[in-house]
Amino acid sequence: MSDTTAVINLDLAGPTISRHLYGHFAEHLGRCIYGGFWVGEDSPIPNEGGIRLDVVEALRALNIPNLRWPGGCFADEYHWKDGVGPREQRPRMVNTHWGNVEENNHFGTHEFLALCELLGAEPYISGNVGSGTVQEMSEWVEYLTRDGDSPMVRLRKANGREEPWRVKFWGIGNETWGCGGNMRAEYYADLARQYATYCRDHGDNKLYRIASGAADADYKWTETLMQQISCFGCEATPKNFFQALSVHYYTLAGPWEAKGSATDFDTDAYYRTMAAARKIDRILTGHSTVMDVYDPGRTVGLVLDEWGTWWDVEPGTNPGFLFQQNTLRDALVASVHFDIFHKHAARLRMANIAQTVNVLQAMVLTDGDSLVLTPTYHVFEMNKGHQDARSLTVHLRGEDPEPERLSASASVKDGTVLISLSNLDAAERARVTLDLRGGSLGATTARILTADRLQDHNAPGAAETVAPRAFDDLKTTDRGLEVTLPPHSFVTVRAPLA
Ligand code: AHR
Repeated sequence: MSDTTAVINLDLAGPTISRHLYGHFAEHLGRCIYGGFWVGEDSPIPNEGGIRLDVVEALRALNIPNLRWPGGCFADEYHWKDGVGPREQRPRMVNTHWGNVEENNHFGTHEFLALCELLGAEPYISGNVGSGTVQEMSEWVEYLTRDGDSPMVRLRKANGREEPWRVKFWGIGNETWGCGGNMRAEYYADLARQYATYCRDHGDNKLYRIASGAADADYKWTETLMQQISCFGCEATPKNFFQALSVHYYTLAGPWEAKGSATDFDTDAYYRTMAAARKIDRILTGHSTVMDVYDPGRTVGLVLDEWGTWWDVEPGTNPGFLFQQNTLRDALVASVHFDIFHKHAARLRMANIAQTVNVLQAMVLTDGDSLVLTPTYHVFEMNKGHQDARSLTVHLRGEDPEPERLSASASVKDGTVLISLSNLDAAERARVTLDLRGGSLGATTARILTADRLQDHNAPGAAETVAPRAFDDLKTTDRGLEVTLPPHSFVTVRAPLA
């Protein structure tokens, strides 16, 4: 068993962990929208205006702060006017990225905004740069956010919505280095300035424009974008055409051609996965370092608007639908990511798991009228107290022969401290002594997420195989509060400041 001391200074709160680090992503891909969020008004599955209520209820418990839509790659072939007006009259298209299936456009702008209202989440709309026009994007913003009278306002009202919506988060294209147009950074940087110019702030609706950023560790892409909005070394105040730029990073245990099964993997593949998950720390550090050069005041946000595990699709499912199971391994990938996100809270303003329902590292999996919460869902739920809390640095010190096998973070909000601990060791327990300084804690409650096997997952009929339960392997010693974590487990400790 490893033995680690975690030193936490309760009186030295750091930056606020934006709730938007717990953001989500829903693309027109496989069964994420159709069958996942949307079943249509005539479905026997309980719904409100066509939106599945069991999915909404499950997700409301996570306090989802924002939802990104309509893609992903789909965003750059989506033409929003096809998705408004009477549903039966909406034009159809082919979803060329995802399974070459026909898209009937029944889930469009109004349906998405209704979903956000039901979830209590802020919309994050990804506009089309790859195959759209400046005018099209500009009119979408007008349609959504303008009040009074104008051509797009009249169209919105004719489609049944009197008041404008409030939309803050606005993506200017997606993966423009790849599926969003295969552009060079220099070319896209100019387009981002151009498109952003015509994405107007209407009335008091202020857009937070997010430029399409780098893949993984492409720091050159970030630098090229930062050069567009800064005036390094000059007197003039730089014009912020966009307020943030994005980055995408997926966790894989092998190459793209052989990503491996979501449920059938060995211990080596598990440790490769954890090493890949931890790489997000270096990647965020790399992009932040480049941004610090051009924006030392950290006014420009970094947005990781796609992250999560990517495995081979489940046997017998459409390869273009990216449907995968979700095990305890996925849950630990999520808990490690959150610890790292909390550490980067000063620059990282948003993160969006890919994707919320039935695609990649999902929160919920549906099959007809059944719904199952995934192990990853439970990490989001157990960690939700970190949203908008002040980060507390956790210093790990120990005799651990494998220091990378422990991950931790902590925060304080409204006088309550939340500490998250992950023991990533597949076989050994981990003893962690919480050495709390600058204050003390009142009555402690703890929860654990673990299972007999790393491969364990939830399915209809066995929906609670991986689910949180109360945890009591804690004791006060003269060194601090000692917590003993079983192998491959995630524990949260919660207590008021005394
Ligand atoms: O999340 C699936 C796809 O991964 C998205 O559409 C794209 O942006 C990324 O490559």
